Amino acid sequence: MKARAMVTHHFGGPNEFKLEEIDIPDPGPGQLLVRVVASGTNPVDAKLRADGTWAGLKPPVVLGYEVSGVVERVGPCVTDFRTGDEVYYTPEILGNPYGSYAELNLVSASIVARKPKNLDHYAAAAVPLAGGTAWEGIMRRLQVRLGETVLIHGGAGGVGSFAVQLARTAGARVIASASTANQQTLKDLGVDNPIDYQKEDPMEIALQLTDARGVDAVFDTVGKDLVGRSLRATRSFGRVACILPPGGDLTSLYGRNLTLHGIMLTRECQRLEELRAVIELGKVRPLVDAVLPLEDVAKAHQRLDSGHGRGKIVLRIAKT
Ligand SMILES: NC(=O)c1ccc[n+]([C@@H]2O[C@H](COP(=O)([O-])OP(=O)(O)OC[C@H]3O[C@@H](n4cnc5c(N)ncnc54)[C@H](OP(=O)(O)O)[C@@H]3O)[C@@H](O)[C@H]2O)c1
Repeated sequence: MKARAMVTHHFGGPNEFKLEEIDIPDPGPGQLLVRVVASGTNPVDAKLRADGTWAGLKPPVVLGYEVSGVVERVGPCVTDFRTGDEVYYTPEILGNPYGSYAELNLVSASIVARKPKNLDHYAAAAVPLAGGTAWEGIMRRLQVRLGETVLIHGGAGGVGSFAVQLARTAGARVIASASTANQQTLKDLGVDNPIDYQKEDPMEIALQLTDARGVDAVFDTVGKDLVGRSLRATRSFGRVACILPPGGDLTSLYGRNLTLHGIMLTRECQRLEELRAVIELGKVRPLVDAVLPLEDVAKAHQRLDSGHGRGKIVLRIAKT
C-alpha cells in the first residue's frame, strides 16, 4: 500500500527528511499493517539520522520508533488483533528500514499491545519507547519499593518524566535533577526534592537529604560521568541503573557491594501491557511538550539534537 512518509536519503543533520509516497508491503504471517496516527520522537531517532550504520540501517530509511495507531490489515496466523483495533508499540530499530514517520507501519504482532483507553493517540505515542525504558529501569531492574529514596538524573526528559512518576507510584521518595528551566516541570511531576544541576551538585544534595547514608537507588538517563559520580551518593548494597554507557570511576561498585544494571530496551508486548495498566489507573501520564505535523519533523530533531527539553515531542501523521 502507498503511504506518505518522511524519508531519510542520507545520514546527516536535522533537515535530512523528504516527504514522499512510499510502498509498504502487505503484512506477512504474524504481522500487522498499522495506520500510524501519531509517532513519538526520541533521541535515538536523531542518533540514527546522524549515522544509522551502527544499527544496520542503510538509506533510504524511514526513522521513528514509537507508534499509536489503528490496525489496518492483519497478516496470516495473527489471532490476537483485528482491523480497527487501537494499538501502541515501539517498532524494532536494528535493521528495520520501516520506522514510524509514515502513515503505515509493518510490524510483528508479537510486540504490539492495545493502546491505553484513557489516552488519545497523541499521548499514547509518547509512551512505548520512553515509558518502556523507564518501566524497565524503575520497576524491573531497580525494583523500587515503598519507602525507598531514589535519585533520578534527567527527571524532566522523555524517559525521566516517566521514571519520576513510576518511582512515586511505587511509593518512593524521589530526588531528581534538571536544568533551571525545568524546575517547575519536576515539581509538576511530583518530585519530592527537585535539584537544579546548573546550580547544585545532585550527589551532595542526595547525601544531605539522606543524612549521609546515600540513596537506595539511582536511575541515570543522562550519561557522561554521572554513574561514577553517583556511587558515593548510593548506600552500600544499593542499586544503580543506566540507559547510556556508564562513565566515570566505577571502582567503588565492588568495595561497596553496589549493583549496576545496564539497560538496552528490547521489544516486547508484556511491558506495554504492564504500563497500560498503571496508565489506565491514572497513576502515570505522558508529558507531551508539543504535537507537530509530520512535515515539521526537522523541528523535533533540532530539539532532540540539543539534549535538553521537556517530556516528548509527538508527530501527527494519519487521520483517525
Ligand atoms: N538504552 C536504552 O534503551 C535507551 C532508551 C531510551 C533512551 N535512551 C537514551 O537516554 C537518553 C535520554 O533519553 P530521553 O528520551 O529521556 O532524552 P530527552 O527527552 O532529550 O531528555 C534528556 C533530559 O536530560 C536532561 N539533562 C541534560 N543534561 C543533564 C544533566 N547534566 N543533569 C541532569 N539532567 C540533564 C535534560 O534536561 P534539561 O533540559 O533540564 O537540561 C533533558 O530533559 C538519550 O541519550 C537516549 O538516546 C536509551
